[in-house]
Amino acid sequence: MNEDIKILNPTLILHLTRETMNMNTKKLFLLASIIILNIGSISAHEGSISVQEKNNHPSENRLKLIMQGLLKDTQLLNEGIFYDDFKKIEQAAKNIADHPNPGMNTMKKVIGYLGTEMPKFKGLDGKVHNTAVEIAKAAKDKNMESVVANYHELIDGCQSCHSQFKQRVSKVLAK
Ligand code: HEC
Repeated sequence: MNEDIKILNPTLILHLTRETMNMNTKKLFLLASIIILNIGSISAHEGSISVQEKNNHPSENRLKLIMQGLLKDTQLLNEGIFYDDFKKIEQAAKNIADHPNPGMNTMKKVIGYLGTEMPKFKGLDGKVHNTAVEIAKAAKDKNMESVVANYHELIDGCQSCHSQFKQRVSKVLAK
């Protein structure tokens, strides 16, 4: 069980401070969510597990795998929005908010390359995180207007980071 929590632990290396502050809260939340998750949500989490398994290879580019997971969860979010499925929206948003950790190897490379641009990069990851949290809350309240408003912000966060950093960082991580 402990190992499961570790695998699913939604610590975000991009938010080192937040990570240390919220670690226990997140672990608790996660424990609760593992217990109450339905089968659909569990399979949604499998993405994170396989990411982690692949991550055992130190030279593996974890960020890319995490991004592929984010895309999957964003697609799930879309489905939830267009089928008025608030449960699906909430789960997808939580997956996005708690995306797995790219690990120290990958982050060292990113930090080493970005240097003073790091706060901007971190800030955009924070925007994605925060809007995902808002979406999950709005879904719980069955407030579609707020879901969609935050959804726009979320996509803006993904896209802003991509337009400024994706190509350059991808190149660095491919080395
Ligand atoms: C803080 C910056 C940042 C944010 C925010 C971000 N991305 Fe990315 N994304 C990247 C970087 C950097 C890459 C390139 C990774 C690589 O090629 O190693 C990338 C690559 C990708 C890829 C291509 C993966 C592949 O197989 O080559 C997808 C898909 C993706 N991101 C989806 C998303 C989605 C969806 C979101 C928002 C929910 C998002 N990203 C938010 C930085 C970001």
